Amino acid sequence: MDIDAIARALHVLAVVHWIGGLSFVTLVVLPSVNRHPIESERPAMFEAMERSFAPQAKLSVLTAGLTGFFLVWRHDLWDRFLEAGMWWMHGMVAIWAIFTFVLFVAEPLVLHRWFAARTARVPGATMRLVARAHAVLLALSLAATAAAVLGAHGALY
Ligand code: HEM
Repeated sequence: MDIDAIARALHVLAVVHWIGGLSFVTLVVLPSVNRHPIESERPAMFEAMERSFAPQAKLSVLTAGLTGFFLVWRHDLWDRFLEAGMWWMHGMVAIWAIFTFVLFVAEPLVLHRWFAARTARVPGATMRLVARAHAVLLALSLAATAAAVLGAHGALY
């Protein structure tokens, strides 16, 4: 098996783990947490579960980025970023950039403190906002994944 096939498999595995985890958090964890009758307990319930997934998501985002750029470098695909018809390549990188920023920069520097301060005041409203933000990110991620599969297999030319 060649190194390209391995990189592609790792790329897809990382995406499956990361977007799959995001789906579970968005469609299962957040709705059940937000149905809990005591609003003030919801943030801690969410954080307990999110805390286990966040480091895993970081690893998958890192792996998807490394293998993705490896494939671009290996096949010299840089020109694709200059072609409008290759918008699905921009889509993948855009989703990756958003998550890299949120997980590695915004979360530790800003979001963690913002979440603690806001949930202390309005826990229910903050958790509903968190659920909406996750739903938007999931929709964008699924669209980028579908576009990448169609694009990589020649269906978008
Ligand atoms: C730095 C970020 C990324 C780069 C540079 C990158 C690059 C690439 C490249 C070069 C390919 C192969 C394209 C081809 O065969 O023509 C690919 C495939 C793919 N990528 Fe990405 N990617 C990145 C992030 C992502 C993300 C965030 C997702 C999901 C949202 C994603 C999903 C996919 C999928 C599903 C495929 C198709 C695999 C297949 O069916 O063969 N990628 N990516």
